[in-house]
Amino acid sequence: MEKLMIAGGYPLKGTVRISGAKNSAVALIPATILADSPVTIEGLPDISDVQILKGLLEEIGGSVDFADNDMTVDPSSMISMPLPNGKVKKLRASYYLMGAMLGRFKKAVIGLPGGCHLGPRPIDQHIKGFEALGASVTNEQGAIYLRADELKGARIYLDVVSVGATINIMLAAVRAKGKTIIENAAKEPEIIDVATLLTNMGAKIKGAGTDVIRIEGVDQLHGCRHTIIPDRIEAGTYLILGAAAGEGILIDNVIPQHLESLIAKLREMGVNIEAGDDQIFVSPAEKMKAVDIKTLVYPGFPTDLQQPFTALLTGAEGTSMVTDTIYGARFKHIDELRRMNASIKVEGRSAIINGPIRLQGAKVKASDLRAGAALVIAGLKAEGITEVTGLEHIDRGYSHLVEKLNGLGATIWRENLTKEEMEQMKNA
Ligand code: EPU
Repeated sequence: MEKLMIAGGYPLKGTVRISGAKNSAVALIPATILADSPVTIEGLPDISDVQILKGLLEEIGGSVDFADNDMTVDPSSMISMPLPNGKVKKLRASYYLMGAMLGRFKKAVIGLPGGCHLGPRPIDQHIKGFEALGASVTNEQGAIYLRADELKGARIYLDVVSVGATINIMLAAVRAKGKTIIENAAKEPEIIDVATLLTNMGAKIKGAGTDVIRIEGVDQLHGCRHTIIPDRIEAGTYLILGAAAGEGILIDNVIPQHLESLIAKLREMGVNIEAGDDQIFVSPAEKMKAVDIKTLVYPGFPTDLQQPFTALLTGAEGTSMVTDTIYGARFKHIDELRRMNASIKVEGRSAIINGPIRLQGAKVKASDLRAGAALVIAGLKAEGITEVTGLEHIDRGYSHLVEKLNGLGATIWRENLTKEEMEQMKNA
């Protein structure tokens, strides 16, 4: 096991290239199950979630070739093998195997998903959708059993706007008989990306990116090539870093429209941002002003950037409030930021941050992916050395983080945990 070592306080500058979107990748890869010939996805990120999904497709008989960020999946020999344990539990997005395998085989057995612990993360809306399409869904000993004689299109109203449920229902519905209408659908760019891949495979989908998606089922889907969209959350993380510890950072391979809510907030704080077609230049404010943010579904401020943004707000003048309306318990990074001298308190779904504070290096633990990003930003800004454990969370979602940061002039490296630290982790 390793930890990240960060020598903070060095201004970062230069260009960083953004990888393909994690939250698209984890849906696009399972979507290939629905085709009857090879599908190539170009530009995937080098992250552990992608490796785990590759292994899962191989477990059900797929032939997968993954090199230089491009993955070709030949799904023709796949079978509906039960996947109740093992790798499935390692990532939340394994729930997309339910929709994809149900869509192709009309049956699936998939373990309940793992992933970041951000408070309760039910999948009742996914199940509501599968049942509306005609599947029986049961939960037996920690695995979900799905079975249908036939899937039939249906009108499905989501009680909660859910990215996962919207995509999962699309996956199950593209090969169902007749028309499916998803109402109150999520509108995130990743949903459009998945719909684009499915359309290239021969599916008939209208309205992805709006809150009503219409799908006309087809019998078969074929192979194709697809290029993934850039990761707006990774890009947002580097934008925040540029505001916190930068001296002028150019973010390359980004769709600025995907980050409008973040850009607006950064500008409100006095941060300098110049957005081009597929690049954004960020340089810090002379004096950062405190702001309030509230996370919302897209195009509102993304919950996935709330934690990194909190690290930035420790350096702003005045009192800021961060409210997470999507995940009420996504505040595990706060105690760690406090260890670094931040002045923050949590009240209900909100964190109240007083600044500006000079952060100090400390030993901290990433409890989830974006908490990890927050601690890395804090460490790069802080005085002295910061050690971040819980690296396995960060590796799930940030491609080549250390290399990219070193490229910007950061002093950051990975180190093996000492025996003593390993013992402490075991007993924690
Ligand atoms: N919800 C329900 N029932 C459901 C599904 C969701 O009540 O059946 C609730 C959730 O508990 C949450 C809200 O609805 O309060 C939104 O959840 P959503 O389903 O949209 O989240 P998700 O699909 O599980 C994806 C991303 C998350 C991101 C959220 C919100 C993937 C693999 N994950 O999760 O990404 O936070 O959307 O935008 O796409 C991350 O990248 O760090 C991450 C956690």
